[in-house]
Amino acid sequence: MAFTLPELPYAKDALSPHISAETLEFHHGKHHNAYVTNLNDFVSKDASLAGKSLEDLVRTSSGPLFNNAAQVWNHTFYWHSMRPGGGGEPTGEIARRIDASFGSFSAFKEKFSAVATGHFASGWAWLVKDGEGLAVIDTHDAGSPLTQGKTPLLTCDVWEHAYYVDYRNARAKYVEAWWNLVNWDHANAQL
Ligand SMILES: [Fe+2]
Repeated sequence: MAFTLPELPYAKDALSPHISAETLEFHHGKHHNAYVTNLNDFVSKDASLAGKSLEDLVRTSSGPLFNNAAQVWNHTFYWHSMRPGGGGEPTGEIARRIDASFGSFSAFKEKFSAVATGHFASGWAWLVKDGEGLAVIDTHDAGSPLTQGKTPLLTCDVWEHAYYVDYRNARAKYVEAWWNLVNWDHANAQL
């Protein structure tokens, strides 16, 4: 069965002014959709891939198949890492774990922002569960924490297509805006 582009979990203008409807129109409607189309193309041409879940494909494939499968997974996870009216201080279990692993929310925020802003070229910044603790990591291109045995909790897409329409080359401004959207309920649900 073919993979489908998941609906955004909110309206295209719902993340404004931090992320515009135009960005989501392209990022979800063009970029994410293209990864789904490419993935289906690979799967339709290789019978050994039939019936594999998206997560299976991310965990077991390599090369262009991995790139497209992981980009489909990563983008869906990214949409859910944000919500309209999000941001602020973490709540629930994730707040306790952030304090335990980073010392404080502000120390975590500083570290995550530095990793997201400093990542060279295209990739992703992640908050992950690694064993009992939490960690901030970055992955290059389509890279996924799933292949490193880590549990993703939140992600920020730092490919230029995520911010160029709204912030041009100012990635740091986009990362700062992302904090106003963070979906702590999503992070808590992954624990
Ligand atoms: Fe993206």
